Amino acid sequence: MRENEVKAYSNGKKNGVKVFVAGSYEALSKKAATIVAGAISNKPEFMLGLATGTSPLGLYSNLAQLCDEDRVDFTNVTTYNLDEYYPIDPENDQSYRYFMNKNLFHKINIDINKTHVLNGKAPKWEDECSAYDAAIEAAGGIDLQVLGIGNNGHIGFNEPGDTFIWGTHRVELTESTIEANSRLFNSKDEVPRAALSMGIGNIMTAKQIVLVANGAAKAKAIKDALEGEITPWCQASILQLHPNVTFILDEEAASTLEAYKAI
Ligand code: GLP
Repeated sequence: MRENEVKAYSNGKKNGVKVFVAGSYEALSKKAATIVAGAISNKPEFMLGLATGTSPLGLYSNLAQLCDEDRVDFTNVTTYNLDEYYPIDPENDQSYRYFMNKNLFHKINIDINKTHVLNGKAPKWEDECSAYDAAIEAAGGIDLQVLGIGNNGHIGFNEPGDTFIWGTHRVELTESTIEANSRLFNSKDEVPRAALSMGIGNIMTAKQIVLVANGAAKAKAIKDALEGEITPWCQASILQLHPNVTFILDEEAASTLEAYKAI
């Protein structure tokens, strides 16, 4: 595939899932930014769900560029982020609030008061979670939710387990997530052991979902999510039931998909 190419694939199932495979991370990020910016431009008051992690960084820098060029306007956009470590001070440079300010909010024309990230130092996490759900619902729900995916198939911090959890909740992180995320900390011991995360219900009730994934480490999670059975052991597999979800992948993340191998 050429670097700037993006091709559409089918996951072989008759559902609301679209799959694009891009020839480079830049092409993947541009495609995602075009979809997100297009959706924002089509609706006057927009509720945007956001994700952290390294995967959406290219999407965020492309959105910042589109904003610089006056091709997207965030004035009427409200954002809700998927998750936050718990406990963590929002000022800590490892917090997801810090990450979002640095990589997106400070680079676009958004009113910072309209950006919402779960408070990692809320004294009572139960109250923080229920207030978050209530605020999202009161604002009319999420129009478009951006997702990454964990190596173990998690979305937000919804870890593999025997159930899907509906609303925002506290999560004890799995060893595999602590290990995967330790690359962003000085040591594994510094990674918080818990997080607050939107639930699967918050994600599934978003009107549109865009999931970005790149790199070989994501290939198994992507295959399980798109071609496997729907099971809470791969939380992303539930996206097969969403009416409007787009996976945007690079060739490495797509490499083990049957539809992709058939080409
Ligand atoms: C974290 C976040 C997820 C993210 C995932 C993948 O654990 N909670 O929302 O999708 O990791 O991160 P990355 O994109 O850096 O691989």
